[in-house]
Amino acid sequence: MTDTATPADRPAAPDPEAHTPEGAGPVVPRPIVLGIETSCDETAVALVDGARRVLAHKLVSQIEDHAAYGGVVPEIAARAHIEHLDRLVKAALDDVGLALGDVDAVAATAGPGLIGGVMVGLVTAKALALAAGKPLVAVNHLEAHALSPRLTEPDLDFPYLLLLVSGGHCQILVVEGVGRYRRLGSTIDDAVGEAFDKTAKLMGLGYPGGPAVERLAAAGDPTRFDLPRPFVGDRSLNFSFSGLKSALRRQGERLLAEQGGLSDADKADLCAAFQAAVADCLADRVARALDRGPAGAALVVAGGVAANQALRARLAQVAADAGRTFQAPPLWLCTDNGAMVAWAGVERFRLGFTDPLDVPARPRWPLDEAGAPVYGSGRKGAKA
Ligand code: KG4
Ligand code: ZN
Repeated sequence: MTDTATPADRPAAPDPEAHTPEGAGPVVPRPIVLGIETSCDETAVALVDGARRVLAHKLVSQIEDHAAYGGVVPEIAARAHIEHLDRLVKAALDDVGLALGDVDAVAATAGPGLIGGVMVGLVTAKALALAAGKPLVAVNHLEAHALSPRLTEPDLDFPYLLLLVSGGHCQILVVEGVGRYRRLGSTIDDAVGEAFDKTAKLMGLGYPGGPAVERLAAAGDPTRFDLPRPFVGDRSLNFSFSGLKSALRRQGERLLAEQGGLSDADKADLCAAFQAAVADCLADRVARALDRGPAGAALVVAGGVAANQALRARLAQVAADAGRTFQAPPLWLCTDNGAMVAWAGVERFRLGFTDPLDVPARPRWPLDEAGAPVYGSGRKGAKA
């Protein structure tokens, strides 16, 4: 269990005096929203205001609790959320000298995700909202990722083309506005973060795999192993990563049979080959989506995998080639956190989108509910 330090690259928390509640200052950047994230293996709480300021940011990562199992164990995750959530809410409010009654709304992830964890966060948010007489905002975790770049980029207007890449999802969407999403393509099997995690597991790099694979890839030769590029050149905007993962496993097994083990250089070269193949797939699909015509001025990437520097650089190039701007949230805002939930709460609250106290927790919740149901459309953590 690791309490993560306050992110270094987030906007500085403002002077709490400037936030004195109920109009004590000349400009009170309402709304102030408390956000709760518990859909996977991070227990996270944040306070964000209408001026895009992250007033407080608390996060407990459960990585160590799940490490021995090679993935997230839902029951362990739910229990850990129960253990930490109340303390984090109190610490977030104490950090800025606010009481619960000073917030304008309580937002929580209501899905998609591991249902036990989602219920812990949502029930806590309901109790807080009820106790304080404040509205509840039930946030779709995918919407929190989708809107997260707008927290740190005030000039990012709708619509924009979004590549949403996380542990449970890989989708290309047009973000037309808050609550308005049009999915253009999606993975038909594994999510891209899941592929990173399986690659890492294959090489004994631990969980979560993304950062470890990225680190090794930086020292490897991406050309030594020939891996497939599923869907590259295809007219659809879909993705597939399971064949890539199997091809990588076969290469690993071949080396094992030939040499009896994998050297550090082998592992680095395999990681580099894998990451290069993923980069080619993402770049090809996104370039094709941009080619289809206007979906706003910006290409945006969000979700945990968006923390990968090599992928960010590649996508920035794709955007530049297509004459679009490129936006990606700062690294601390890519992987799951409370600030993105609080910010989605700000965006929804401003538009009057609040929810009744009997709103359900949803293990699956596609962003575009009218869209065709596909594997990667609202599914998170189900394989863990
Ligand atoms: O968004 P997120 O924190 O949780 C979900 O909503 O799923 O994404 C977690 C995923 C994990 O699969 C993790 O391995 C991946 O994001 N990830 C990365 C990197 N950092 C996290 N993948 C590639 N490179 C990274 N640097
Ligand atoms: Zn996420």
